[in-house]
Amino acid sequence: MLKRRVNETVPGEGNRIAVAAHNPVMASGSAPWIKAGVPALVLAPMDGVTDAPMRALLSEIGGFSFCVTEFLRISHSVPGPRAFRDHTPEVANGCRTPAGLPVQVQLLGGDPDKVAQAALVAVQVGARAVDLNFGCPAPTVNRHDGGAVLLNHPARIRAIVSAVRTALPRQVPVSAKLRLGWENPDAIHVNAESAAEGGAAWLTIHGRTKSQGYRPPAYWMPIGAVRARLGIPIVANGEIWSIEDIRRCRDQTGCQHFMLGRGALAYPTLALAAARELGICRSAAKDRFGRTPAEWLPLVKRFIEINGAMSASPRCTVARVKQWLRIANHDGQMPWFESIKRRESPEDVVDHLVALAAISPAS
Ligand SMILES: Cc1cc2nc3c(=O)[nH]c(=O)nc-3n(C[C@H](O)[C@H](O)[C@H](O)COP(=O)(O)O)c2cc1C
Repeated sequence: MLKRRVNETVPGEGNRIAVAAHNPVMASGSAPWIKAGVPALVLAPMDGVTDAPMRALLSEIGGFSFCVTEFLRISHSVPGPRAFRDHTPEVANGCRTPAGLPVQVQLLGGDPDKVAQAALVAVQVGARAVDLNFGCPAPTVNRHDGGAVLLNHPARIRAIVSAVRTALPRQVPVSAKLRLGWENPDAIHVNAESAAEGGAAWLTIHGRTKSQGYRPPAYWMPIGAVRARLGIPIVANGEIWSIEDIRRCRDQTGCQHFMLGRGALAYPTLALAAARELGICRSAAKDRFGRTPAEWLPLVKRFIEINGAMSASPRCTVARVKQWLRIANHDGQMPWFESIKRRESPEDVVDHLVALAAISPAS
């Protein structure tokens, strides 16, 4: 049972984070998605990182309104129910994480009919909201007519969103996630308008072009310009690592909705602190999170435990731990990560962290 009560802490080691702190989403039982005038925080889809175990862990900690799965790519054939159940195991649980956080399923593809058919299968299997990816910069994805390459074709964005919108029951929201453009950031205006015309209920905008990759900074101003022009809610995304960033992003965009990616992985209490800042929940969490092995040990242990409960293989679990800590170490303040890289089993990772924690206690 992963669900925890308000202000309960992760077992072991006297960990300092309060988990699932007063989250109205979990308390009300209703799926909030994005609504105008209601602030929200969304956990970013991150292929190979924010998978079901990570979604389970971060939703135990709390602060998010909902999360989005990594993309499921729709290319030659339409995936069957089993592919969706494997990709989004939460469909067996009302499309919520074990802690009760709603999960939105993300699809990626360039063929409107196939993506629409896939969306219908997703909903038949249990998805309750669908997001469409128009931002992935990976060359293999782009070469196969998916992700950011569609930013060069606004009419196709409209057609894909519209086909999915038409295929699904009205109560299932469809949203789109865009970058500012392929190379030209001004393309966001026509692309956002096309997605809205196609029937997107809201848009998430990552404030960078495909060519800008993940290099800082993210450009938030154009996100605000789109929000001011379009009549649908906009979720601002990119380079939010602290409460100060949320404030600056809110000032520059006028947005009330934010998506957190790498920041939430590097500072696992950031969403809780941000939720308090936005008036979503009460919490005493700090946006900063310790950088020492002692501070990371309970979280890593819990993540490994969740992976085990979800039948992830030891190899995959270790790979996911390393991927997470690599992102967490974005500022180079976790030099001990170098020695974690050499660990080969979950037990080895934990034993090594315990040993490191013993010689370098929490700051
Ligand atoms: C490793 C990795 C995987 C990602 N996978 C996806 C994905 O599956 N779908 C998607 O829409 N965006 C994906 N993204 C983009 C993130 O959702 C987000 O837009 C980006 O990281 C910027 O937000 P951040 O600065 O808060 O991390 C990915 C990003 C990273 C770093």
